[in-house]
Amino acid sequence: MTHRIAVIAGDGIGPEVMPEGLRTLEAAAKRFNIDLEFTTFDFGNCDYYLEHGKMMPDDWFEQLKGFDALFYGAVGWPEKVPDHISLWGSLIQFRRCFDQYVNLRPCKLMPGIKSPLAGREPGDIDFYVVRENTEGEYSSIGGKMFEGTEREVVIQETVMSRTGVDRVLKYAFDLAQTRPRKKLTSATKSNGISITMPYWDERVLEMAKQYPDIDVDKFHIDILTANFVLHPDWFDVVVGSNLFGDILSDLGPACTGTIGIAPSANINPEGKFPSLFEPVHGSAPDIAGKGIANPIGQIWSGAMMLEHLGYKEASDAIVGAIESVLSDGDTTVLTGDIGGQGTTKTLGEAIAKRLGD
Ligand code: NAD
Ligand code: IPM
Ligand code: MN
Repeated sequence: MTHRIAVIAGDGIGPEVMPEGLRTLEAAAKRFNIDLEFTTFDFGNCDYYLEHGKMMPDDWFEQLKGFDALFYGAVGWPEKVPDHISLWGSLIQFRRCFDQYVNLRPCKLMPGIKSPLAGREPGDIDFYVVRENTEGEYSSIGGKMFEGTEREVVIQETVMSRTGVDRVLKYAFDLAQTRPRKKLTSATKSNGISITMPYWDERVLEMAKQYPDIDVDKFHIDILTANFVLHPDWFDVVVGSNLFGDILSDLGPACTGTIGIAPSANINPEGKFPSLFEPVHGSAPDIAGKGIANPIGQIWSGAMMLEHLGYKEASDAIVGAIESVLSDGDTTVLTGDIGGQGTTKTLGEAIAKRLGD
């Protein structure tokens, strides 16, 4: 069976880490006899916008909807196109129009990587952030009024629908049930955000009734961020709204040494539309063009894609290859963010080699 993958590299370091993601996927596909067919698209980046006045062609949905998965780099180059235009014209469209309502983001301290948190070893930090990905604080409802006057006002509404909240909570509870600790933490702010967040808490309590074996707790987002730093070992599955999940999924990986290794899966669990796999990090304009970006976030996202397509063994082998290269700690291979002097390519090649490339 052929799996058709749409490849969109994006901006900045996106096109630099993408070849390493593909290299590893090709090595895994060869070793495990998986038939992957990659099709590259040149839209969804800021240069496309500068040429066409939009981030994607009008028929992008038709072009992409038949693929089995989307493999994405990173998008955004604020000096060329304002971020809200480039992101709402690409990534956020994919998440919404393909109803990828779960954004699954593992945070794991890997062997060989030093956590910035004193005394933390692999095993101390190993949790998932499950981020609501289609509504919440990322809403297009609102506007600007009385523009240019002293009475100027901007409003942007938060949207939480019962269906939207329940479906991501269900995913998170189901995930917690597969984990040895069976623990779920909810990110809230119901002390200050007085309508949507108490509603979120209410739905968590309601959902918890169906999962009596899950140990559920909640923290307000302010102390939760502090606890990520002070007690990362407390967490197993952490579920949050779109904005809270976004913040936690940069903080979590930072606690594991670098955001350069963090992967993510934007999932449409029903499989009605393709899911999208991309690193958590962005296009990193500050290091783009130098060939020094860490490719592991992209490579691990590829592993999540293989698992999603049903190839758990191949996915585990990629994560194993990443762990093995990191444990070796060869500084000529590793990138600068994890203490090496290597390049995107040296690290990508080393990982692919462990898979038999
Ligand atoms: P960023 O993640 O691009 O960079 C933050 C910092 O982390 C930078 O110092 C960068 O050099 C470093 N970094 C990121 N990835 C790295 C890697 N693989 N290896 C080594 N270091 C890495 O975040 P930002 O600076 O806030 O955003 C830059 C642009 O990317 C903006 O346009 C933003 O909107 C966009 N962005 C896109 C995505 C996405 O496509 N999913 C995610 C986040 C940000
Ligand atoms: C992410 C990014 C995006 C988000 C931005 C670039 C719109 O930060 O994927 O985490 O906020 O979802
Ligand atoms: Mn983010």
